[in-house]
Amino acid sequence: MFLIFTNLAYGQTPDTLEQGWRIINDGNLGNCGTCHQLRSSNSSQLTQKQGNFGPSLIGVGRRYSREILLQWVTDARQISSGTLMPPYGSLKGIEQPVVPRTMLSVEQIKNVVDVLQTL
Ligand code: HEC
Repeated sequence: MFLIFTNLAYGQTPDTLEQGWRIINDGNLGNCGTCHQLRSSNSSQLTQKQGNFGPSLIGVGRRYSREILLQWVTDARQISSGTLMPPYGSLKGIEQPVVPRTMLSVEQIKNVVDVLQTL
């Protein structure tokens, strides 16, 4: 029963993947390529930027479960305290942001993770 529910909840479609890539590439939203190398397996989607500040995200969909990927993007501090990966889904503990914080909605984070699962 739980399995059926989570499969439906994934809801990965060409549309959510397109949204996810848009968010990843958008300099005012995910901007993930600033710090990460990431490339689509079908190469129809490429980020202009391929940073190396963070680890390469190629193959990340095979290394981590969807739940862990959601956690990485929402608030990686729950996985690794002192991480330099910005929390996109939480302002917890950030009382006076030094730089403008990019926040993503739960829906946007799900779209991004849809993409991560294909890498
Ligand atoms: C300011 C640079 C920066 C940006 C922007 C950034 N990340 Fe990261 N990310 C990092 C760093 C640094 C790590 C390694 C953190 C650690 O090990 O504690 C990381 C780790 C990760 C990991 C875990 C990778 C692994 O192999 O363990 C994932 C997944 C990830 N980032 C996804 C994303 C996504 C998706 C975005 C865009 C929405 C993004 N990151 C934006 C710096 C960044």
